[in-house]
Amino acid sequence: MYMALKDLSLCILNFEIKFHVLRMNGGIGEASYANNSLVQQKVISLTRPIREEAITSLYYKKIPRTVSIADLGCSSGPNTFFVVTEIIKAIENLCRELNQNSPEYNVFMNDLPGNDFNNIFRSLDSFKQNLMISNNNNNKFEKNSCGPCFLFGAPGSFYGRLFANTSIHFVHASYSLQWLSKVPEGIENNKGNIYMSSTSPLNVLNAYYEQFRRDFSFFLKCRGEEVVEGGVMVLTFLGRRSDDPSSKECCYIWELMAAALNQMVLEGIIKEEQMDAFNIPQYTPSPSEVKLEVQSEGSFTINRLEVSEVNWNAYENNWNAMDSESEEFESLIDGGYNVAQCMRAVAEPLLVSHFGEDIIENVFSRYQTLLTDSMSKEKTKFFNVTVSLTRNA
Ligand SMILES: C[S@@+](CC[C@H](N)C(=O)[O-])C[C@H]1O[C@@H](n2cnc3c(N)ncnc32)[C@H](O)[C@@H]1O
Repeated sequence: MYMALKDLSLCILNFEIKFHVLRMNGGIGEASYANNSLVQQKVISLTRPIREEAITSLYYKKIPRTVSIADLGCSSGPNTFFVVTEIIKAIENLCRELNQNSPEYNVFMNDLPGNDFNNIFRSLDSFKQNLMISNNNNNKFEKNSCGPCFLFGAPGSFYGRLFANTSIHFVHASYSLQWLSKVPEGIENNKGNIYMSSTSPLNVLNAYYEQFRRDFSFFLKCRGEEVVEGGVMVLTFLGRRSDDPSSKECCYIWELMAAALNQMVLEGIIKEEQMDAFNIPQYTPSPSEVKLEVQSEGSFTINRLEVSEVNWNAYENNWNAMDSESEEFESLIDGGYNVAQCMRAVAEPLLVSHFGEDIIENVFSRYQTLLTDSMSKEKTKFFNVTVSLTRNA
């Protein structure tokens, strides 16, 4: 017992060292993730058919009296409840179609401990109200027809066990699994870059890939223990189509941020050693890399593996449907600002922890200029790799 407690405390210590700086900007301010996550919301909408297919297959196999759903890397903002509401709605639709009673729901919201969980819990009432409203809007539902829903926070890294053995039926993760458990080791020679890039030495590309393999394989092992037999997972990574890990598809967005930081090195605002020691703990996998890891780990079978695309400037997707006088149309014109804000919501805590708070406005103002320039010259897109999996018997 003593050993077990000691191991646990070491585990927690390592965990805090690795993770305390990775989090999205909390709250509801101008630079918050809650106000700058439209791209991620578009991705959730794009992948809806894959989730619905996975839920249908789960339901037809066996629907338990209590369905346990986990959203991993849920963050805090409008997307947090958007996904869960959709999943419950899809199950409720199936219940009506098959003339079954609604199940009860356990909903687990997971993210790293630094996430703004308070913001999630404060929105609980409106989530429950929305659930009823969405069901009532759908003609198939009677008022208050949704099964009881119990919400739990599950703080911790998904690169480790989060739930009891064979207790979860549906796992969802969108735009969270591209975050690695740490910056890969041995990449001190990635000079002038902050992520993989076309100028990164080969050992850097290999180190990033190896870190992804270790992390994703361990993720699958942990979920393999937690998900019930026949249970499903739908995972969407920020990824790439190309087999080349340094392809512009996934690296360009960070290359432009590196360009902003390098300008500041040249002007003596940032020290070169500081720049060289900064790398983003992310890996944007290709579909074949995801497939290889799932197959070699062995706990899950792939039902579907797809790549989709979304514009860097999420407002651009609505271009045709927009009123040219509207505020949304105005935002579209300022695409560089939108993308810089989206990236700021995601990367600011990492930058602050490494370079300090003082440089932040300067970095993002330069980044915005570089983004605006490149977006005026070419079509710029994020690529999403979505995989739907079933837990093997
Ligand atoms: C870009 S946000 C996506 C949030 C939400 N799923 C969405 O689609 O809007 C990525 C989230 O993953 C979380 N995350 C990253 N690594 C994690 C880990 N190892 N364990 C749990 N959450 C993690 C981050 O803290 C962040 O909130």
